[in-house]
Amino acid sequence: MARISKIAVLTSGGDAPGMNAAIRAVTRTALYNKLEVIGIKEGYRGMIEKLFIPLWSIDVSDIIQRGGTILKTARCMEFKTPEGRQIAYNNMKEIGVNGIIVIGGDGTFTGARIFNEEFDIPMIGIPGTIDNDLYGTDYTIGYDTALNTVVEAVDKIRDTASAHNRMFFIEVMGAEAGFIALRSGIAAGAEAIIIPEINNEIDKLNQLLESGRRQRASNIVIVAEGDKEGGAYKLANKVKERYPGYDIRITVLGHLQRGGSPSAFDRVSASRLGYAAVEALLDDQKSLMVGIQNNEIALVPFRKAIKLHKSVNQNLLEIADVLSS
Ligand code: F6P
Repeated sequence: MARISKIAVLTSGGDAPGMNAAIRAVTRTALYNKLEVIGIKEGYRGMIEKLFIPLWSIDVSDIIQRGGTILKTARCMEFKTPEGRQIAYNNMKEIGVNGIIVIGGDGTFTGARIFNEEFDIPMIGIPGTIDNDLYGTDYTIGYDTALNTVVEAVDKIRDTASAHNRMFFIEVMGAEAGFIALRSGIAAGAEAIIIPEINNEIDKLNQLLESGRRQRASNIVIVAEGDKEGGAYKLANKVKERYPGYDIRITVLGHLQRGGSPSAFDRVSASRLGYAAVEALLDDQKSLMVGIQNNEIALVPFRKAIKLHKSVNQNLLEIADVLSS
């Protein structure tokens, strides 16, 4: 395989705080190793539409603390077609790119895995999503910041909930995963946490309400957006009908969870992962994600990161249960 001389980097899918720190780490590690660096704007769309910018050390100054992504991001349908990927490959060849680093979640890595089966330009992935739902890494970039954002918001809601003796249903992100809900629920002392991975949470919520023991205190129910009942509004409406005695309000935190300056933890993770991704390309690796397992860098094939489901930590569930009793 030809030695890597010019790499490209892109961000794809939902943005996450810390993506900029990862772009910075990739760029500076590559330049340190005498590689040229190209930034591709708007994810895979930019590969197809030639949205390229050269990246130098100065271009990634003053971004480690910024949320969002300086390269912008997109979810690209054309890259899902063989024709789209062929154009993307031709464009990479044309400018002499011989290694690509993609920062994103499972959709991003699915595209990268297929691209690496079809073409000879190696791709390495960096996990960047607030959802933390990728197998093979304990943490994804953005998760820690999103948790802190949620906890800060829930603390504020708790103040007004207590003042009125109210119950709040607070919906957090996680279309298919309850990782944000579970950890933020524990950190904010939620009375109940409803996540898609667990079936009997609604029964537990009913027990809590039946007992009436919470009627005078504030009650916070954290609901993952992908829960089986269809989100906080549907769940709260059911509860309202059945227990008219509770004074209930609903808050959907929405996209504010994706913004903001990344936490120190996310900045350090992004720096380690960006560095490791370039090292992986220099080591002639391809089609894998760099992750962090037990505080060590781990290389995980895209195939596994996408297909295998990260399981919910049973111990955390138990703790959430005990501490809300
Ligand atoms: O980035 C992941 C995620 O935040 C999910 O938790 C959420 O369901 C989804 O993105 C929302 O995506 P969009 O910004 O496209 O509405």
